Amino acid sequence: MKVKRIGVLTSGGDCSGMNACIRSVVRTAIFKGLEVYGIFKGYQGLVDNEIKLLNRRSVSNILSHGGTILKTARCPEFKTKTGQKKAVAAMKENGLDGLIVIGGDGSFRGAHILWQRWRIPVIGVPATIDNDINGTDFTVGDDTAVDTALFAVDKIRDTATSLERIFVVEVMGRNSGYIALQVALAGGAEDVIIPERQYKIDRMCADIRRGHKKGKLSWIIIVAEGAASAAEIAKKINKKTGFETRVTVLGHVQRGGSPSADDRVLATQLGAKAVELLSDGQTDKMAGIVNNRVKAVPLSYAIKNKKVNTGIFYRLIRILAR
Ligand code: ADP
Ligand code: F6P
Repeated sequence: MKVKRIGVLTSGGDCSGMNACIRSVVRTAIFKGLEVYGIFKGYQGLVDNEIKLLNRRSVSNILSHGGTILKTARCPEFKTKTGQKKAVAAMKENGLDGLIVIGGDGSFRGAHILWQRWRIPVIGVPATIDNDINGTDFTVGDDTAVDTALFAVDKIRDTATSLERIFVVEVMGRNSGYIALQVALAGGAEDVIIPERQYKIDRMCADIRRGHKKGKLSWIIIVAEGAASAAEIAKKINKKTGFETRVTVLGHVQRGGSPSADDRVLATQLGAKAVELLSDGQTDKMAGIVNNRVKAVPLSYAIKNKKVNTGIFYRLIRILAR
């Protein structure tokens, strides 16, 4: 079947670079002679038939903006067969031959079902600050989130040094420690706590005491939200060492803002690849980056747990901090 009309949506947690990706999808599709429709609020927009034809001008001046002009949502109804039926009906009613889903692993699970159960051609673009998607080295939004967190950590370093305090900084990442490791390494943090590795509070406190004797009077410890709460870690450190601690939870600042150059380039490349794959009749795939190359990766592989070798970063952080 020749693909003539496609839909694009952003789903799950937003991240910087989603707009750059939408722009790339829309303009590549039009260049290839396709019609492209924007679906609003992720799968919710399919369920509710909130769909609009886009043109080249619809995506003017969005490349440098965070968030997503298509809005995003978490749509529990789409997890049910009834919700999926409504979504498939909306695809048919609007004459859409295929769908590009820009989102994280949850969104890809939904896309995989759209193909496997309902035979709707789908292509995913990995976009999440967590960088937790299997089969791609990078996801759109992660680089900007790391830069944002790093910007904060650099400022915290100034006050931590001046007042000789221990700061525990919590970053996002859901079940992944990727953001925490990147921020810890780039920010020269003294320690890092991630979900992929067991942390030992006694060892950390012994390190702090030993460091203190040698004149190391301020510390920054990065905690991935999926591993522990920064507030609890800070309380324990204070109780065990007697040193003053402070807590910063960075939260959703990591999700917004103008995308970095790397995120814009990644989003643009992957968006264009997604259109190519769909118009070539491919389906049930993700456009990803493997060893610096843009690749098509099966969605069934993309939704598996990503295994990252955290040891290399983790050891380096500890060696450099001592
Ligand atoms: P992310 O894509 O960022 O991981 P979520 O996990 O919240 O975000 O998933 C986004 C949306 O994808 C969900 O709200 C739901 O509509 C859809 N989705 C997630 N998991 C499934 C699933 N198992 N089956 C069908 N749809 C799903
Ligand atoms: O998946 C992206 C993410 O920002 C995670 O890092 C975080 O755990 C979660 O989404 C927060 O979700 P919400 O925006 O619903 O609070």
